[in-house]
Amino acid sequence: MLAHQTISTIRIEDYSVAKSDQTDQLKGKKLRFGIVGCGAIGPTHAGALAQIEDAQLVAVADLIPQRASELAAKHGVTEIYSNGDDLIASDNVDVVSLCTPSGMHADAAIKALRAGKHVVVEKPMAISLADCDRMIAAERETGKKLTVISQHRFDPASITVKRLIDSGQLGKIILAEGSVKWWRTQEYYDSGDWRGTWRWDGGGALMNQAVHTVDVLQWLVGDIKRVYALTRTSAHERIEVEDIAVFTIEFASGAIGTFTGTTAAYEGFPARMDLFGTDGSAIIEADSIKQITLKNGQSQVHQQAAGHAINVARGGTASVKNEASQPRASADPGAVWGDAHRTQLLNFIHCIHCGDKPLIDGAQGRKPVAVVLGVYESARIGKPVDIF
Ligand SMILES: NC(=O)c1ccc[n+]([C@@H]2O[C@H](COP(=O)([O-])OP(=O)(O)OC[C@H]3O[C@@H](n4cnc5c(N)ncnc54)[C@H](O)[C@@H]3O)[C@@H](O)[C@H]2O)c1
Repeated sequence: MLAHQTISTIRIEDYSVAKSDQTDQLKGKKLRFGIVGCGAIGPTHAGALAQIEDAQLVAVADLIPQRASELAAKHGVTEIYSNGDDLIASDNVDVVSLCTPSGMHADAAIKALRAGKHVVVEKPMAISLADCDRMIAAERETGKKLTVISQHRFDPASITVKRLIDSGQLGKIILAEGSVKWWRTQEYYDSGDWRGTWRWDGGGALMNQAVHTVDVLQWLVGDIKRVYALTRTSAHERIEVEDIAVFTIEFASGAIGTFTGTTAAYEGFPARMDLFGTDGSAIIEADSIKQITLKNGQSQVHQQAAGHAINVARGGTASVKNEASQPRASADPGAVWGDAHRTQLLNFIHCIHCGDKPLIDGAQGRKPVAVVLGVYESARIGKPVDIF
């Protein structure tokens, strides 16, 4: 029997932070971070960095001066720029966090890598595979580290299920379902010129919102080989992109699955992944374990849904901003929005110091972008599409 105790004490350290002896060596060597883009998600990075001993936020940049100055004031930052390029050029910055619209990620990331900085880039890595490949090439050429934010890989629930799969306890995964039935208001799409555009958002419900779950699903089950999709724009106006995407999945392992990603499901429901193996089943809902049942031990775990997951399902980036930068209220690292960002940044800092590969480097960050673009192509041509 896999008891609740066992499941809740899965070690996040294995996937994330430096071991304690290495942490000791790093004391006094704070990495200096600069954040480019102080809109909805920039403050989450600042809040996460404030809780990391080995990091210091030293610079912020935004085209909208008030956004940069407000974030700077909150975190005691004195280096304030009105353009990301100037921050990237600063000698005081070791690591650049790119929190700008998705279609701007690639050029800025390459510029920062070539300027000798390590780079944290928000999801999606970029909105074309050519751009992802340019970023991967710059990562390789410069020897600097790149990580793409996909914070839900660092949720304790994701790590728990990953370990169950990797240790063979679920058997061979044969069926997987991903579901992101979120709600975004028309005001959300109207709130930024870039939102809902092909040029800067790179897609809709799938590229912007459900890409998180696409990434975690393919990380857990393995590479996605082929998709067959339908997309619609059904509940919003003045957007170029889809607000509903459904597709079938063939995984390289032979498993099959389905996925629904939407921002048209009023009033928003927590994201969910259902995984079925030959030896058991695991369900993650609202970033928490909903149920794990193993053939050999009838184990079951139910956890309370994390409140932030429900807010994000319903409220969009406004709720992200409101909950960003809050101090941790609980020992459960998944309990507060932004904490998984902290864990991913810890993994990145560890890798910068120790030379290891970040859990989500350029090659990993490319994978969900390839799937999402494959879905769009499949919906366009009405045929299954292979993912490369
Ligand atoms: N990991 C997550 O959960 C999560 C959540 C929300 C957004 N995101 C991602 O973060 C990125 C930003 O999203 P957002 O919702 O914060 O957008 P936003 O529009 O709220 O903020 C983006 C900010 O970047 C600024 N900006 C644009 N170009 C700039 C430049 N050249 N120099 C300096 N500042 C510049 C804009 O003025 C704006 O304030 C997107 O790629 C999005 O997909 C990730």
